[in-house]
Amino acid sequence: MKENWTPQTWKSKEALHQPNYEDISKLKKVTNQMKKLPPLVFAGEVRELKCELSKCVDGKGFLLQAGDCAESFAEFHPNYIRDTFRVIMQMAVILSFASGVPVIKLGRLAGQFAKPRSSPVEKKGNLELPSYLGDMINSIDFNKKAREPDPERMIKAYNQAASTQNLLRAFAYGGYADLSTIQSWNLDFVKKSKQGSNFKALANRISECLNFMNACGVNNHNVRQLSETNFYISHEALLLPYEAAFTRIDSTTGHWYNVGAHMLWIGDRTRNINGAHVEFCSGISNPIGIKVGPSIDQQELIRVIKKINKKNEKGKITLIIRMGSKKITKTLPPIIRSISRSKLNVIWSCDPMHANTEKAKSGYKTRVFKNILSEVKSFFKIHESEGSYAGGIHLEMTGQNVTECMGGMQKISDKDLSNRYHTHCDPRLNASQSIELAFQIASYLKKIK
Ligand code: PEP
Ligand code: CO
Repeated sequence: MKENWTPQTWKSKEALHQPNYEDISKLKKVTNQMKKLPPLVFAGEVRELKCELSKCVDGKGFLLQAGDCAESFAEFHPNYIRDTFRVIMQMAVILSFASGVPVIKLGRLAGQFAKPRSSPVEKKGNLELPSYLGDMINSIDFNKKAREPDPERMIKAYNQAASTQNLLRAFAYGGYADLSTIQSWNLDFVKKSKQGSNFKALANRISECLNFMNACGVNNHNVRQLSETNFYISHEALLLPYEAAFTRIDSTTGHWYNVGAHMLWIGDRTRNINGAHVEFCSGISNPIGIKVGPSIDQQELIRVIKKINKKNEKGKITLIIRMGSKKITKTLPPIIRSISRSKLNVIWSCDPMHANTEKAKSGYKTRVFKNILSEVKSFFKIHESEGSYAGGIHLEMTGQNVTECMGGMQKISDKDLSNRYHTHCDPRLNASQSIELAFQIASYLKKIK
């Protein structure tokens, strides 16, 4: 915690990508109401996550952060949450089996509702309207009324986040994540595919190990880690009135914690040293992610890290690298060198999604699977040659059988995109592509083992 810092000091700085609320008294009423709403997470859990993350700094853990680009009110269904949870669990098993280290499961879930946009306006024909900024702020419908920011949407987003988190907790601690049920984790539509049978083969090996361990007296009745898992939640700390309302003093330590998510990250567009987002994140005790894109200034990045992590604690900072498959080989090595020269403790995580977005011929915003794969591969290779540890992956995915990213073993083509293109913002990997990617990453992890 910094002296003089409060959850409101960001207001004296420039806050980029904030909506223009017309009715300030309504905004005030809503933020006052939010300050009294129950937390989604507890400070003790946040400390536990930070402790687990500290292991990803030097090779004793691996961070899997995955989930929606933008959660939406329309795509809210317990089955969607279940399927995303299930695929993240499958990916985690694939990764930890290969690496032999614990995989930290961190959802982009239960609060990921606000989006920075490349343009403040959207044009269709002759009509120009404010851009859609995420369901927490305005509506995706293309009419003037729908695009007006409405503070009440923050309450609706909180309620959806709360019930999402409630279900995630039930899955994580109520038996659904029990390793002895691993054979049933394969989703029906993935079962018949190559990824499905690869996963089945892995599940069989794990079941064999579990049988053996059971014979030795170690089983899900006496070892908690076999029957349940820690599952954490995260979102971009973008909409600052919302984040400030969920920032509270922890009675155990007297420190400020954001209780709307275990981990928050600062986007590539809002990570400037003098900006409101860095100021806000510098005072909370949660682990913080910083997106690092091609426009990064190395000296500024170091200042940002030092401002947020004064004590250079391990597990506090995750650098989420999103350079694009073409630029990463040139841009990442100098950053690794300058961070290592400054002796800063960071987790190196790879976001192969955000700088590999393109427009398909059909007009859909998409990402090509082989470019995603190529960025991940370069990320691991660069870390190997720099002697640093590739400690995490950051993905936009869903457990649904969507057609938003092109390629993969399913060979999704441009003309398939229109079949099931449901995202409210960026194109996500579907369940099959996510598992395929996890097996690829597993093969890189195995190499560095
Ligand atoms: C995101 O993660 O959804 C996002 C907007 O990423 P970035 O800040 O890296 O562009
Ligand atoms: Co996105």
